[in-house]
Amino acid sequence: MDTAEPSFFETNPKAGSVGQPLSRVDGRDKVTGKARYSAEYNSLPGLVHAVLKTSDVAKGRITGFDTSAALKQPGVLAILTHQNLPKLAKTPNDPEGKKAIGAPMGFLPLTSDQIHYAGQPVAVVVADTLERAQYAAALVRVQVTAEKPLASYEDPQAKLFDPEKVQDGKTPGHTVRGNPQAAFAAAPVQLTHKYDHAINHHNPMEPGSTTAHWEAADRLTVYESTQGVTRTQKALSTMLGLAAEQVRVVTKYIGGGFGCKGSTWPHTILTVQAAKAVGRPVKLALTRQQQFTSMGHREDQTQTLKVGASKDGKLLALIHEKTSTTSLWDNYAEPNSRIINLLYACPAFESSYQLARANVMTSTFTRAPGEAPGSFAIECSMDDLAYQLGIDPLEIRLRNHADKDPTNGKPWSSKSLKQCYARGAELFGWSKRNPKNGQTRDGRLLVGWGMATASYPVHNNQGTARVRLYADGHALVQTGATDLGTGTYTVMTQVAADSLWLTPDKVRFELGDTKLPTAPNSGGSVAAGTVSSSIYMAAQEVWQKLIKLAVKDPKSPLYRAQVAEVMVDNGRLMLKANKSKGEDFAALMKRNEMADVEGNGNGKYGAGYESGLAPGPASSGHQDDQAGHSMHSFGAHFCEVKVDPELGTVRVTRWVSVHAAGRILNAKTARSQIIGGSIFGIGAALMEATSRDPNYARYTNASLADYHIPVNADIPAMTVEFIDEHDPYINAMGVKGIGEISMVGVSAAVANAVFHATGKRVRSLPITPDKIL
Ligand code: MOS
Repeated sequence: MDTAEPSFFETNPKAGSVGQPLSRVDGRDKVTGKARYSAEYNSLPGLVHAVLKTSDVAKGRITGFDTSAALKQPGVLAILTHQNLPKLAKTPNDPEGKKAIGAPMGFLPLTSDQIHYAGQPVAVVVADTLERAQYAAALVRVQVTAEKPLASYEDPQAKLFDPEKVQDGKTPGHTVRGNPQAAFAAAPVQLTHKYDHAINHHNPMEPGSTTAHWEAADRLTVYESTQGVTRTQKALSTMLGLAAEQVRVVTKYIGGGFGCKGSTWPHTILTVQAAKAVGRPVKLALTRQQQFTSMGHREDQTQTLKVGASKDGKLLALIHEKTSTTSLWDNYAEPNSRIINLLYACPAFESSYQLARANVMTSTFTRAPGEAPGSFAIECSMDDLAYQLGIDPLEIRLRNHADKDPTNGKPWSSKSLKQCYARGAELFGWSKRNPKNGQTRDGRLLVGWGMATASYPVHNNQGTARVRLYADGHALVQTGATDLGTGTYTVMTQVAADSLWLTPDKVRFELGDTKLPTAPNSGGSVAAGTVSSSIYMAAQEVWQKLIKLAVKDPKSPLYRAQVAEVMVDNGRLMLKANKSKGEDFAALMKRNEMADVEGNGNGKYGAGYESGLAPGPASSGHQDDQAGHSMHSFGAHFCEVKVDPELGTVRVTRWVSVHAAGRILNAKTARSQIIGGSIFGIGAALMEATSRDPNYARYTNASLADYHIPVNADIPAMTVEFIDEHDPYINAMGVKGIGEISMVGVSAAVANAVFHATGKRVRSLPITPDKIL
């Protein structure tokens, strides 16, 4: 589309569906079992089963295998090890290969005799049934020489290093603004605190799973539980030495991902190789135990935050340091400092980080990576500052409100944080808070109130969609996006319906296939904004084509009108100046013997849905507007806890979250998503921790029986609201995305409530009873 095109969407599409609490369009298929997940393609011809045999040892060398007993078992088709696995065209074992593949981990198991972490696959056993594969895997004997591993940065043998001094400096860590050291030294109020965060695992309901089907020697279809089919296609085709189009990746449903399905991990390519080796489709589903060592985790980490402030509570300096554990090959660290730099007006800031290598697998994006643990540090410190100065915790945040982005001085594209604070405080009754801690009781329980700020960046991504409008009033809408379970199917159906003036039941929406137009990973909270905007832009192209058709059609009432004089409303093309002159799209199409009309859209740029803005692609100047603004969502959490002073148990008894994230596409799914993310945060605050044995570098609680997450009985009824926010800059739909912000600040809100209840500040997550007593 060129920019001379008219603004035919002068009126907004009638918001019949967008924003409404439509129930999930895929809900019935999910609860009836009709929805097929990646390990449920059971009717593939000759489908067989793979099982991973993993190492209990975290460091060592494989000296041999005894597979004789296993191979004798009925139904066993292959036992693959580093000794017989066919070579790949590329592996992530060198930096160049890792980059080309887009692999999260710079080591692929079964490529050598080396063992680098506990849980590392050492053999893949394929058999005709799952049980036979499992039994045979149990019979495989692996001879290993074990060495003492490094378990974490806390290991006395661990060597800390600064990754930016050895590598690409990609992970945001080293930032300096102003003169932080001098500003801190001169600050009348100085706080220095250390914050520890436990290892967390993603633990989606559906574990990592792959079904690989070689349809020909050079044609592969993979049903994969992934947050991004295109990224998986790239990873697999690069490793296999195939063209991207020779590998099809299908992901129709995902049972949660939380970041661990944002990259392609070893089990996927091993399954593909197993399928090639046995010449049959192969499926593999990780066990819950294997999930803990197969798809990354949130790293164990310590942060030190120095806060310099004036006597009236204004921030003068923030200095942040982070130390965390990484694998033997990768320098991944969550970008914690980003939110600390951004959240409040502060003239001086500095951050740095260091890593220690250990015999662990690579950590990865995990549920609000960076922002979740980073907000724990800054939001607890703000609370400390408030108590120290006798200022209300909400008031101190208002005093430090950042009216523009402190990291770059840019104006916000929109920011409704003050409204979030005000509405949250009102819903919670914050003004009734006793300013003193340890003073409020409910019977023998101590009662505490805490709050925290939330924010998450709007990452704009390239994404495309195709819309086909049929003359009979139906539409097919397609994009290669994925639905993590959070509601992409539903909200995109709504967006398409509104953009075409149809009811949602007339829209068939398809996603999750590399055959469909390319869309980004569902990660980093980008899917809702990018995909909705690309659908909206695709629909615009449909209308534009129809307008062009009408003005050239001698039988149309719009014949010989200028394109710019025509608009569309409610599916009817009409003259702007004389709205009675026009016709319905269906009449125009039928007369022209068009069964359908198709449009393609790109979701990266383009305004449109927001009132007062002409639609248009990047060249309309919108791109400049976008670059000139800092784009973030904001929110506030309010928490009440009741603490048992004898037992040290903490219960969250009330919860209020208010967020401002641009347009909310579906009131019901959005509320559910915020509730879910807030529960993650409560889990991180009070329960979630994977414990890694310091001697064996092995997880000691790798199961959902031992890795505690909140259950219904742990969570009160939660109040969630959104501020009505209109952002004309971020994307065509004005959608910021809510995938991560729900969790940001939550652990601090809980910790601050615990402090208010007990007077005890716990800076080490999770806040288990032993830390309170
Ligand atoms: Mo998310 S942790 O960006 O998948």
